[in-house]
Amino acid sequence: MKKTALIGAGAIAYCHARALKQLDVEICGVIDVNTDSARKLADACGTRVVSHLAEIAGELDMVHLCTPPSFRIDYARTAMEAGCHVFMEKPMAITPADGQILVNMAEANGVRLMVDFNHRFRAGFQELLRIVQSGEIGEVVNVFINRMGMLGGNAGTQHDTWRRKAGTVCGMSIESLSHDIDMVWQLLGPVASVRADVRGTFADAPAFDNNVNALLSMRNGAMGVLHASWSSHLKMSARGVVGTRGTVILEGDDLFDFNRLRLRTADMPHEHLIRLDDVYHFATCPSYLNANRYFLECQDKGEDGSASGRHALETLKISHAILESARTQTAIPL
Ligand SMILES: NC(=O)c1ccc[n+]([C@@H]2O[C@H](COP(=O)([O-])OP(=O)(O)OC[C@H]3O[C@@H](n4cnc5c(N)ncnc54)[C@H](O)[C@@H]3O)[C@@H](O)[C@H]2O)c1
Repeated sequence: MKKTALIGAGAIAYCHARALKQLDVEICGVIDVNTDSARKLADACGTRVVSHLAEIAGELDMVHLCTPPSFRIDYARTAMEAGCHVFMEKPMAITPADGQILVNMAEANGVRLMVDFNHRFRAGFQELLRIVQSGEIGEVVNVFINRMGMLGGNAGTQHDTWRRKAGTVCGMSIESLSHDIDMVWQLLGPVASVRADVRGTFADAPAFDNNVNALLSMRNGAMGVLHASWSSHLKMSARGVVGTRGTVILEGDDLFDFNRLRLRTADMPHEHLIRLDDVYHFATCPSYLNANRYFLECQDKGEDGSASGRHALETLKISHAILESARTQTAIPL
């Protein structure tokens, strides 16, 4: 039985605790600066609260880092130097410089570093990806992601959370858009340059952005658009790919819901509408199970896999290019 520790006992840690139980991974301890939070999760997992990772790192195969992104490096160092693989939440860090430190540490210690891009493991996105990769819609010309939600509010509306506080704030372009950047990368590969506008709606938290429009030029010649809002009073999601021989759109009724897939190729007299049941319920979404299963497989194979720290660092650089483009009103090459 493989062993891990959960570090950061907030909302997302419960998703991983559930997944790890299903995968028969033993949770040997929970660490959190908030001892009440640590106790609550430890009780839910039937394990103990641990004060310092160094106390148990030697007995673990891996750790799960579920803290806010600015508090990962010290834990990762302790874990990796003890030979543990590290699974961490997205975004891997707030700055590319910190992301690079994490990648370097994993390579120096010969351990796997994986970042939780869970939405790419969802059935709806996997079907979109399959269609694009099969060549059914021909060569990709245009990709778009349009997702809105949170009904005018979001985690950033709570003043006392890390999402909003100076020093730990990163905003939607870095935090949540990382999923969308990862999905575009899965569909089309690397981004060549970005041109973007970014806005936040909280006057007292200027670093917290919650609206992004970004134009992407892909290295393979295709073009792309990312449109995302965390402050919309209506909810929707559409992720589509226009190819030379067909078009496919994955649609949903909330920002990460995949309710239907529409496909029409040059050979089809009418579009095909495929009903999906891939609605995103945070607490029960199977994507966390799939992401953790992939992490275990990568460990067994001794491979970094496609959700590696190195890949996550590239997505983080795209988030920063989006922010820099918005600041300078210029296109930023990558
Ligand atoms: N993949 C997804 O679908 C998804 C969804 C939500 C959140 N996330 C990511 O998960 C991470 C955490 O988000 P959350 O929503 O669970 O936040 P949260 O605020 O609910 O939980 C964070 C926890 O970390 C603890 N913490 C803070 N500093 C710490 C430190 N130095 N050491 C140990 N514990 C510390 C806090 O006390 C809190 O319990 C973020 O990176 C976020 O982007 C991912």
